[in-house]
Amino acid sequence: MSEVTLIINDEEVKAEEGMTILEAARSAGIDIPTLCYHEKLAPYGACRLCMVEIVRGRQSRLVASCVYPVEDGLIVKTESDRVTKGRKMLLELMWARAPGVQPIREYGIKYGITGAQVIRDYGVGRKNMAKFEIEPTFCILCGLCVRYCAEIKKENAIGFVGRGIGREVVFFPEIARRTCPGCQECFSLCPTGALPSHYGLVEACH
Ligand code: SF4
Ligand code: FES
Repeated sequence: MSEVTLIINDEEVKAEEGMTILEAARSAGIDIPTLCYHEKLAPYGACRLCMVEIVRGRQSRLVASCVYPVEDGLIVKTESDRVTKGRKMLLELMWARAPGVQPIREYGIKYGITGAQVIRDYGVGRKNMAKFEIEPTFCILCGLCVRYCAEIKKENAIGFVGRGIGREVVFFPEIARRTCPGCQECFSLCPTGALPSHYGLVEACH
């Protein structure tokens, strides 16, 4: 595998071809916040919290560092104004969706959100500005539990159902009752810590 050199936050960083920006940054001791990343699972790119700014000449854009591959000569900024603004906006939406979730609160405070600023109802897309109330939930849809069960355990006892704001994770009782009692390995992956009580609903219906 060939080596590439990129510039992250004005520092030269060596990485192997095929690595993502996130992996290269972490290998150089540069922290980038993540919510849906796990080193054992295929990159997913769901939460976008790992966004960084990449610069080419006079053009720059935001990319999800956990899925974007390193390139020789790439210039990356992990905490530029544009990045912090983008992360703050994402965290406001996540906070509104899952207000009690610890990592969201911790990151939210780091990026300057106060509870009062959190958006409680907002437009659906730019064209259709219909308003809706966000139903608070424990789940931030990071997909760690779903992907772990599918990719590592090969069981698919938990999965996503629904679309848009109605999207949620559910245990599929016919599989979960057979496989989950002896496993429960996804519980510790859940950044909200609320997955065990969600699973409790399946057990309660036993
Ligand atoms: Fe992520 Fe937890 Fe939701 Fe699963 S239940 S998608 S691990 S937040
Ligand atoms: Fe990269 Fe979630 S950690 S999109």
